[in-house]
Amino acid sequence: MTLPGSPFFAMREGVLNVEEIPLPDIAARFGTPCYVYSRAALLDRFYACRAALDNHPAGKDSLVCYAVKVNSNLAILNLFARLGAGFDIVSGGELKRVLAAGGKADKVVFSGVGKSESEMEQALDAGIFSFNIESASELERLNRVAGRLSKIAPVSLRVNPDVDPKTHPYIATGLKTSKFGVSMDDAPGLYARAADLPNLTVRGLGCHIGSQITNPLPFAEALERLLDLMERLEKQGIAIHHLDLGGGFGIPYRSEETAVSFMAFLTPLLQRLQQTGKGRTIVLEPGRSLVGNAGLLLAKVEYLKTGAEKNFAVVDAAMNDLLRPSLYGAWHEIVPVSSGGTEAIYDVVGPICESGDFLGQNRKLAVNEGDYLAVLSAGAYSFAMSSNYNSRPRAAEVMVDGKDAVLIRRRETVEESFALEMI
Ligand code: LLP
Repeated sequence: MTLPGSPFFAMREGVLNVEEIPLPDIAARFGTPCYVYSRAALLDRFYACRAALDNHPAGKDSLVCYAVKVNSNLAILNLFARLGAGFDIVSGGELKRVLAAGGKADKVVFSGVGKSESEMEQALDAGIFSFNIESASELERLNRVAGRLSKIAPVSLRVNPDVDPKTHPYIATGLKTSKFGVSMDDAPGLYARAADLPNLTVRGLGCHIGSQITNPLPFAEALERLLDLMERLEKQGIAIHHLDLGGGFGIPYRSEETAVSFMAFLTPLLQRLQQTGKGRTIVLEPGRSLVGNAGLLLAKVEYLKTGAEKNFAVVDAAMNDLLRPSLYGAWHEIVPVSSGGTEAIYDVVGPICESGDFLGQNRKLAVNEGDYLAVLSAGAYSFAMSSNYNSRPRAAEVMVDGKDAVLIRRRETVEESFALEMI
């Protein structure tokens, strides 16, 4: 069986390894539940993305802005920063993280529909690459804030190309019904306004149509609409220096799925751009595709429980650690770390007092109490969406590099989780 994320995650002599470390060693050293990332897998994904751009003349002038929300651990941000990545942020908090991790402000794009004045100030002070503007009011506010600081804010409009990315409704963001972006119809007027405002400078045009998109076609459709708009704007006398094509490149979550490569996603877009003869700096905002298959959640089976109609494997990780199955009905492959045990069909559930607290349902697993399970493809939107629900301290995070494993976030203590409260 080929696991999503292989060859960095592979069974060796009946035991699941991350790079060269057997997972039971990680569990013994760092405890469970615990997120485990492969450094080599992270490098591999970043290089694959860069190669798809660098191999094409239209992709050479480009900036890969890793979407910080996906996994914002400082060690991961630092790794990407050292590889030359920029960052896509959606809050002042994410900007602070990027700077603390050694990222460069002038490679940061700031997305999101609700930027506050203080977040704008923070980003202007830092000197970011571009504000991705999502509404008329935001444009006016940014102009005011920049004026107050005597700065000129670089802006790009995030337009809504009304393309159906055929993904989960919660993560489709480029439809007319979505709260994100400005409509294609409103864009020319807003660009004209931006060009008039004294404290803004128009830099780019962009979109982000959704997440976990596994078909390259919606990206091509969105690009066509951006190119039409760009032509119209240029006739209006508004120059566009960069095109931000967003993120959203999907990954395999099931062993039987094959990955769509960065080449397959990006080459048609780059070819089309070259055809137009209008070279632009290309900005991408990938998140999941850089980190999703590079991490797993390691959990211990506390109890095997036989119910009237179902069997349950109760593990020590829960929906507070990994919300995606409960929230989106998302599928994550779950594999026993070591072979053994009698095979049965289980719902893999956590200790939280909600029936929606499951990591996987109806899974055929050969496990015993005390064994470890690995929930795969948990590098993206996993730790980042974790909480303290049921007063559960957040899990530890570990980075594996060959034969070394390093703690990149220690397990929270319960005391830390209520330290900000008072009686
Ligand atoms: N750029 C913008 C403006 C975004 O809103 C997002 C993700 C990205 C880039 C990165 O997209 P990616 O390359 O990772 O698909 N929590 C959900 C996914 C939410 C996506 C939010 N926006 C999940 O667990 O599937």
